Amino acid sequence: MSTQPQSLSAVIDRILTLEIVRVTERAAVAAARQRGCGDERAADQAAVDAMRRELNRLPIDGTVVIGEGERDKAPMLFIGEKVGLGTGPQVDIALDPLEGTTICAKDLPNSLAVIAIAEAGSLLNAPDVYMDKIAIGPDYPDGLVDIDASPRDNIEKLAKEKGVPVHEVTACVLDRPRHARIIEEIRSIGASIRLIGDGDIAGVIHTTDTEETGIDIYMGIGGAPEGVLAAAALRCIGGQMQGRLVLDTDEKCERAKRMGIEDPDRVYSMEEMAKGDVLFAATGVTDGNLLDGVKFGKRIIETETVVMRSATQTVRTIRAEHRMFAKFG
Ligand code: FBP
Repeated sequence: MSTQPQSLSAVIDRILTLEIVRVTERAAVAAARQRGCGDERAADQAAVDAMRRELNRLPIDGTVVIGEGERDKAPMLFIGEKVGLGTGPQVDIALDPLEGTTICAKDLPNSLAVIAIAEAGSLLNAPDVYMDKIAIGPDYPDGLVDIDASPRDNIEKLAKEKGVPVHEVTACVLDRPRHARIIEEIRSIGASIRLIGDGDIAGVIHTTDTEETGIDIYMGIGGAPEGVLAAAALRCIGGQMQGRLVLDTDEKCERAKRMGIEDPDRVYSMEEMAKGDVLFAATGVTDGNLLDGVKFGKRIIETETVVMRSATQTVRTIRAEHRMFAKFG
């Protein structure tokens, strides 16, 4: 019998697609038990524990490249941690067991349990810093928007391409003081803004279904880990995204350098952040545009998960009814 590790493509569709759904489902259910309790740390910890437990049951030789933080700051699911049974394909893993800890703690929309898996060496090893991001959905010509162009230029180009006046374009932006200038510029041209309190993975994904979400473009600065996860999702659904790490201190440049990032000003395309065959899954923790949150019934726990793969661009939505409560701890 061969002892060669199997390639990711050989097993990804048949085995991993469903297996990773379990991983995000378990994390989402664990976090959802803490929904609205006001304790962000407890919600995050519950999701981390559940995700790690489930990941370690997968037939993969995985390395966390985007995780809960750098090794000295995160006890679990830190960057570089080995996960899985160590028997299957060698894979990179990007994860966020609870994306939107504050929104979960406040029971607001769009918190998710998220994971992306790709062949080893395929996901950008980004340090835990900020990333400037811009994203639009599919069906636009390549290069229509550019992270170095002004918000005004980008929105005007998008409106022209879409065939609508600028005031019919909506940009999604994180509600942070650092975005005061771009918010002012977007409003000055009459476009509208969906300000979100947290959760920019969902913000980016929402650009891919404007009819449902009302969002045409995502722009602004959020977490770099969330940037890589969002790029992985867009690789699967289609769309365009660019990101640039915000390495504004020597210490951050040094950390990035240790992770192989030589040029602090480099703009990464979506394909550079998530190369090759990528698998992405997200389960709703709280209700959102993308997914329903976890529902706890007397005998059934319901979850909704989206799982997708870049090679085929198949997007599956899986609604699950779980009856064996014991499995969820
Ligand atoms: P957490 O789940 O870690 O709380 O992240 C939520 C989030 O809103 C991300 O979606 C976003 O990328 C990042 O925080 C923005 O960071 P900050 O809150 O520091 O502006």
